[in-house]
Amino acid sequence: MRHSSRAVVAALATATAKAASLADLCTVSNVQAALPANGTLLGLDLLPDTVTAGAVYNASTGGGMGRTTSGTTYSYCNVTVSYTHTGKGDVIPLKYAFPQPSDFHNRFYIAGGGGYSLSSDATGGLAYGAASGATSAGYDAFNYDFMSKVLYGNGSINWDGTYAFAYTALGELTKIGKPLTQSFYGLNSTKVYTYFEGCSDGGREGMSQVQRWGDEYDGVVAGAPAFRFAHQQVLHVYPALVEALSDYYPPPCALDKIVNATIAACDPLDGRTDGVISRTDLCMLNFNLSSIIGDSYYCAAQNSSSLGFGFSKRQTGGGPGSQSSSAPEQNGTITAQDVAVAQAVYDGLKDSNGKQAYLSWQIGSDLGDADPTYNNETAAWELNIPSTGGEYITKFIQLLDLDNLPGLNNVTYDTLVEWINIGMIRYADSMQTTLPDLTTFQTSGAKLLHYHGESDPSIPAASSVHYWQSVRSIMYPDLSDDEALEALSDWYQFYLIPGAAHCGSNSLQPGPYPQDNMVTIIDWVENGVKPSRLNATVSSGDYSGEVQQLCQWPTRPLWSGNSSGFDCVDDEASIDSWTYTFNAFKLQPIY
Ligand SMILES: *[C@@H]1O[C@H](CO)[C@@H](O)[C@H](O)[C@H]1NC(C)=O
Ligand SMILES: *[C@@H]1O[C@H](CO)[C@@H](O)[C@H](O)[C@H]1NC(C)=O
Ligand SMILES: *[C@@H]1O[C@H](CO)[C@@H](O)[C@H](O)[C@H]1NC(C)=O
Ligand SMILES: *[C@@H]1O[C@H](CO)[C@@H](O)[C@H](O)[C@H]1NC(C)=O
Ligand SMILES: *[C@@H]1O[C@H](CO)[C@@H](O)[C@H](O)[C@H]1NC(C)=O
Ligand SMILES: *[C@@H]1O[C@H](CO)[C@@H](O)[C@H](O)[C@H]1NC(C)=O
Ligand SMILES: *[C@@H]1O[C@H](CO)[C@@H](O)[C@H](O)[C@H]1NC(C)=O
Ligand SMILES: *[C@@H]1O[C@H](CO)[C@@H](O)[C@H](O)[C@H]1NC(C)=O
Ligand SMILES: *[C@@H]1O[C@H](CO)[C@@H](O)[C@H](O)[C@H]1NC(C)=O
Ligand SMILES: *[C@@H]1O[C@H](CO)[C@@H](O)[C@H](O)[C@H]1NC(C)=O
Ligand SMILES: *[C@@H]1O[C@H](CO)[C@@H](O)[C@H](O)[C@H]1NC(C)=O
Ligand SMILES: *[C@@H]1O[C@H](CO)[C@@H](O)[C@H](O)[C@H]1NC(C)=O
Repeated sequence: MRHSSRAVVAALATATAKAASLADLCTVSNVQAALPANGTLLGLDLLPDTVTAGAVYNASTGGGMGRTTSGTTYSYCNVTVSYTHTGKGDVIPLKYAFPQPSDFHNRFYIAGGGGYSLSSDATGGLAYGAASGATSAGYDAFNYDFMSKVLYGNGSINWDGTYAFAYTALGELTKIGKPLTQSFYGLNSTKVYTYFEGCSDGGREGMSQVQRWGDEYDGVVAGAPAFRFAHQQVLHVYPALVEALSDYYPPPCALDKIVNATIAACDPLDGRTDGVISRTDLCMLNFNLSSIIGDSYYCAAQNSSSLGFGFSKRQTGGGPGSQSSSAPEQNGTITAQDVAVAQAVYDGLKDSNGKQAYLSWQIGSDLGDADPTYNNETAAWELNIPSTGGEYITKFIQLLDLDNLPGLNNVTYDTLVEWINIGMIRYADSMQTTLPDLTTFQTSGAKLLHYHGESDPSIPAASSVHYWQSVRSIMYPDLSDDEALEALSDWYQFYLIPGAAHCGSNSLQPGPYPQDNMVTIIDWVENGVKPSRLNATVSSGDYSGEVQQLCQWPTRPLWSGNSSGFDCVDDEASIDSWTYTFNAFKLQPIY
């Protein structure tokens, strides 16, 4: 049987892949014959008996990553196959989707997930003429997020799952998927361009591939990466601790008002009044939140449910980070206490000696993590610990199978620093995902497009800046700033998206958002068209439809006049405001 299917592959190859039909290729025997033979991928043994293959015609799928597919349909070969790690006896199911031959453009694509989930959808590449895949990662990742799998029980960490979620599962998916794709279409050694695209944890996953599987990819698009994982997750609890320690819980309407008033005050600092703070650095340097004290606010009563912090891709009705709440009518004026909470949150976590432990959300970002809960019995605002952070602390740090911290009794800023330190050390080579030596990726000729919403209220924009700075200093220690910048931008470019929120546009700031990152990276990888700006389109407000060419970091936008576009300027003071040393930790530096 294997013999005859190899013959089929060879026959198809001579006929060229494009001439074969989907039905010709999409057979169990063709897939079995196309599997990498045992021994060719060190440590990864494919299990031919597990192969299924079935053609799917005219499916309205394959959108992925926020793309709308309005009316577009795809025909593809739906393949499942499992592999095992040599000698281990585990069985890890994979899914692949191979576009019909006439749509295939010699590409392989992996989409990132979100929250604590890997993507379970293998069709994300169809829109790009790419074969693509998804992995169950050894912990049934098609059906569970990793948060529900990190502990076998109290005190007992699922390390296989931790490494799989952190980076190994996706790397193996790609490692197997590339030769499988070549053989599936009978391409022999024709280059298959390989891409990863993701945002939030998907952005972290993308960075994990850049760091750990650098020679497997040609292009990676990573948005708002949830990396520096211990810092990032514990940060979600920091605003609640600010409130607990001051025993003051500001009404959410007051926090919303502070954000709105900050946006109004700082919007013009970038040279154009358009509802967008394109320069949060100028806002940080020039605006004093105290000026909002005394402003009045009003919010009508409401019942609301939120999906949490953009961390809940797979949960549409409850799950980690999602909350439903009801709030009464709120009517008052901003107090010094309200401003003190907002200021402390924007200043970021420091230890009891005033040493910086982590950066924070940019001023003007929504303060959702600081929203307290309304107790309708006592008619008072109370402690609310976002489970995005609380559940990380209970499960990853305390190793207790609890969905959230029960409270913050006896917790101090030093406690948060200690939790971060434990997480940073324990998961240093798995979840932390901040290795700055990208030599393998760079020398293989791959390209990295990294972006982050400047007003992201979940994953601070400065956390991406800090990583870019780490990579530059590790990769080019001996070059001058200008030389390092030029060398780096040949293969790694970073863009802040003015006003944007977490992996999307911001209802509070009608700014631009990039829509065609994959077009940009494909052009860079396959045609050598190196970007110097990033296309982004405004989708609401007075400037709806405007296409902006965003500035590449570290240059910053400055509008000249109210209509004539912006320049990308160098501003040392601005860059300094984005630069941190986390000296609360003994281990240095923190990348
Ligand atoms: C693949 O290799 C075979 C054997 O070397 C050759 O006959 C065939 O033309 C090649 N096919 C393609 C698509 O390059
Ligand atoms: C590859 O090895 C696995 C065991 O590691 C075995 O189950 C499988 O049948 C082998 N595949 C082939 C094609 O021999
Ligand atoms: C898929 O759509 C095409 C174009 O509309 C049509 O010709 C074809 O018959 C459809 N195939 C199936 C299996 O429905
Ligand atoms: C793909 O194949 C798997 C395994 O046979 C099956 O469970 C799944 O429903 C198929 N997907 C589609 C879209 O047909
Ligand atoms: C803040 O601004 C948004 C719209 O930009 C508005 O919907 C909301 O009601 C405002 N909140 C407060 C408290 O002013
Ligand atoms: C902001 O203004 C207040 C009140 O005028 C002042 O006490 C505080 O020092 C100012 N903050 C900064 C950072 O200048
Ligand atoms: C909120 O829900 C409660 C209970 O369902 C209902 O009584 C109340 O009228 C709702 N309030 C608003 C503002 O919708
Ligand atoms: C808010 O409260 C003030 C004083 O109690 C009152 O004058 C005002 O009408 C209230 N505003 C709203 C919108 O209810
Ligand atoms: C208070 O909130 C609880 C929980 O949401 C709800 O069950 C209860 O009906 C509310 N009571 C009042 C008086 O609104
Ligand atoms: C795990 O620890 C938590 C917190 O101490 C406890 O509530 C729970 O019962 C424990 N679970 C088991 C299965 O022992
Ligand atoms: C807080 O600390 C005090 C004094 O060390 C101790 O008695 C108490 O049990 C602690 N409370 C909690 C909830 O850990
Ligand atoms: C950028 O936007 C311009 C104007 O809409 C468009 O012509 C161009 O094709 C876009 N570039 C990319 C890479 O999408």
